[in-house]
Amino acid sequence: MSASESFHAWWVSAESAELRDTTTDQLGEGDTLVRIEFSGINFKDGLALERRPGILKEYPMIPGIDLVGFVVESDLDLWQPGERVLLNGAGLGESHNGGLAQYARVSGADLISVPQQISNFRAAAIGTAGFTAMLSVLALEDAGLEPSAGPVLVTGAAGGVGSIAIALLAELGYEVVAASGRVDTASNYLRNLGADRIIPRSELSEPGRPLQKQEFAAVVDSVGSHTLVNALARLNYRGLATVCGLAQGPDLPGTVLPFILRGVHLIGINSVFAPRELRERAWQRLARDLNLDLLDSLTRSIPMSDVGASGAAILRGELRGRTVVDVDA
Ligand SMILES: NC(=O)c1ccc[n+]([C@@H]2O[C@H](COP(=O)([O-])OP(=O)(O)OC[C@H]3O[C@@H](n4cnc5c(N)ncnc54)[C@H](OP(=O)(O)O)[C@@H]3O)[C@@H](O)[C@H]2O)c1
Repeated sequence: MSASESFHAWWVSAESAELRDTTTDQLGEGDTLVRIEFSGINFKDGLALERRPGILKEYPMIPGIDLVGFVVESDLDLWQPGERVLLNGAGLGESHNGGLAQYARVSGADLISVPQQISNFRAAAIGTAGFTAMLSVLALEDAGLEPSAGPVLVTGAAGGVGSIAIALLAELGYEVVAASGRVDTASNYLRNLGADRIIPRSELSEPGRPLQKQEFAAVVDSVGSHTLVNALARLNYRGLATVCGLAQGPDLPGTVLPFILRGVHLIGINSVFAPRELRERAWQRLARDLNLDLLDSLTRSIPMSDVGASGAAILRGELRGRTVVDVDA
């Protein structure tokens, strides 16, 4: 790739988000050049594309917190040209130019190999959302959770993190209860992923009593706010909660009672700064435990021209499962 040859990239500035011709010398710092094949639309990408504050650390910037593709060239011995690599987070599409482009220049230390069993398209379908779902499951396992402990609640069930969390937990033998705002339209979809029971998210999204009937061994939450507080109030004695998201809100309007009277544990999940060892562990487990046919059933692909509309749609809670961006289409 010569420095003067142009390719497509989304750029977000203070005034606009648009697809533009770009050259590699506009990509910024990094020891490794990657030819991207696929990126994706995560909630955070929606925030960046809609120019909401707090995601992009400077303007103009290429958004996109995920990329999957091939190494073109690297200053590191770690990578050879042609190797299949992926990157989730680590500042991509936040503090440096991201994955919604045909090329990225990144720090090679942040890349990991795409597991052999997973195609590049499927790796993008997993993306940060699936990686985070896996981190949540690993955290529950590390805290001692086993399927015999009882049902696991997944909030934001039809979203990216929620859908993949359901598929993973069901595959691992857990009884899964899905909380969704789309009971009417997504019940078949959620059952197909492995949900045993579906409850309307309205059951959790309003203020509730600080302690409620104990019914869940754990919760995988990507919603926050009253939903998380009500889920905590329904956990069994010594129940576990992972929290990674704020689709309802960043507030935590609850009491300490579930913690001090039921010994409930709240575990924070952050995918962006996950150390390399944990990234590799999570991706190996995804290769082992995620049913790839189910993954296909929760994935759709869009061309670069649809990225702006999909970014707005994910913030309205309208996207289901995962949306892969084919950066060459
Ligand atoms: N900590 C991390 O490292 C990390 C990593 C990945 C994602 N996240 C966060 O996790 C969240 C989910 O990400 P995602 O990519 O899965 O997004 P997503 O695909 O948009 O999924 C979010 C889901 O939450 C539910 N929801 C939306 N608005 C809601 C509301 N007002 N009240 C209750 N539920 C609502 C919807 O599910 P239903 O339609 O089924 O109700 C929606 O599909 C985001 O906040 C994201 O920033 C954090």
